[in-house]
Amino acid sequence: MIYVCSIFHLLLANFFLWEFFFVNCSKSSSSFLLPPGSLGLPLIGETLEYMKSMNTSNPVFMAQHRIKFGDMFKSKLMGALCVVATKADTIKWVLARDGKQFVTGYPKSFKGVLGSDTALNTVGEQWKSTRKFVVNGLRTEHLRSRVSVIEDLVLECFDSWETKQIVNVREETKSLAFNIIAQFLLGSRLRSGPVNDAVREDFYILCEGLLALPIKLPGTKFSKALQARARIIETLEREVMSKPRPENDEDHYADYMEHTRRENFPGMTEERLLEKTRSHMLGMMFAGHETAACTMLFAVKYISEHPDVLAELRAEHEKIQAAKYGSDSRLTWDDFKNMHFTQHVIIETLRLSTPVALLWREAIEDVPLHGYVVPKGCKLACALREVHHDPAFYENPKQFNPWRHQKEIVNPANKPPFLAFGGGPRLCPGADFAKLEISIFLHHLVTKYQWELCRGDEVSYFPLPKLSKGLQLRVKKCVKSTDTMFETSL
Ligand code: HEM
Repeated sequence: MIYVCSIFHLLLANFFLWEFFFVNCSKSSSSFLLPPGSLGLPLIGETLEYMKSMNTSNPVFMAQHRIKFGDMFKSKLMGALCVVATKADTIKWVLARDGKQFVTGYPKSFKGVLGSDTALNTVGEQWKSTRKFVVNGLRTEHLRSRVSVIEDLVLECFDSWETKQIVNVREETKSLAFNIIAQFLLGSRLRSGPVNDAVREDFYILCEGLLALPIKLPGTKFSKALQARARIIETLEREVMSKPRPENDEDHYADYMEHTRRENFPGMTEERLLEKTRSHMLGMMFAGHETAACTMLFAVKYISEHPDVLAELRAEHEKIQAAKYGSDSRLTWDDFKNMHFTQHVIIETLRLSTPVALLWREAIEDVPLHGYVVPKGCKLACALREVHHDPAFYENPKQFNPWRHQKEIVNPANKPPFLAFGGGPRLCPGADFAKLEISIFLHHLVTKYQWELCRGDEVSYFPLPKLSKGLQLRVKKCVKSTDTMFETSL
């Protein structure tokens, strides 16, 4: 009873503190002009309501709030007072002002777990320097030379299917996307094996803590993520970084450290530099891994459910394969550039199951917006998923229809907004890399395998789109690529 009373008093005290803070913050920073909305419960605001909605197959939180309050509303999500923007034009406007009126504003748990020096969390000159380094490593010439390395990893994945009857696509795509980004960052030294397994397992634990409440108590997701972070760094430095770099092999870690050392930032001690490099590596692993894995997973789900899409996709890849008859059968950058329908499938998958549902910014001055004011220090959440489900731009938005992206648009101003890779100065630098790896994955999937979908998966969307059973397929290797998919239901 005493315990219950204490909690009650604690909540009450927090409530008054919150109200006090909010009223004062309002007076001091013109947030009386915040848009309408609801701040929900003390402390947690509407976080649980949002998470609950996203954990269903039909998230309605945003749509209901729009009906009630309009396209821009205030809320309290992930522990922060925020303005939520749901319209494409507003979001593009905000993203374009990164570094001017807004800076990146990811939840505390993000910084805690990944470190404050990831590209996503840095601002100003340090961000510009990191961005330059990352963009340079992901430019077309570099990607062109990566095709065969990525294809090797994809083939390794599909070879392992030969001994399996049922595959769990979530597990396969997660480990494939991890291996691809690991190879990109650290080359062959982190290729499959026990070290790769250990780092990968810890990485999953780390990801679980990214959006958890930042409470450092034994057993919390946040604490487990911090421990996993420490183990990953320890393992990488002991097992990978201490080994000599093979000739022509990747070493993003050493190269980034060297690049940043040359920038000569004031106060950048060797210790700071080491911590910055560690954060950057974890940030890259995170940015380039879960998003791509989730897109591969949902692409397989959608094409399995739409035989007409699968048929057109298969035809595209068989044509590419047929053109190689008698010559080198390996894929090239030019093949990738010819995978036109595949790109529509990928874009449609990203539209329907947008991996990054919310982008976070923080106002660095009072920003007037649509007759309201986003006060200095207030977060702004850009609801990308909402944009992609807006019937004003996408007819039957819930329907998977890659052909919708084929329509010729005469006036670019009428192009439906597509923001899965963000926008403005922080537009995802890995977009082409992601499309390349997903395309190579789809190429080998549709030309090598037939499959039957095991039903019964529930879809949900928090923190990323996911399937309750991970999408299980009963697979059979194609005897010849023109075999049709076998169709019995399990
Ligand atoms: C389908 C896959 C992917 C999706 C949907 C995606 C989405 C995004 C989005 C929405 C942002 C913008 C974040 C913001 O503005 O706050 C972003 C940034 C970023 N992405 Fe990706 N991404 C994907 C794949 C990748 C890959 C493969 C890499 C690396 C190889 C990568 C590296 C990054 C980095 C470093 C940033 C931070 C950029 C900056 O702050 O300047 N991403 N990504």
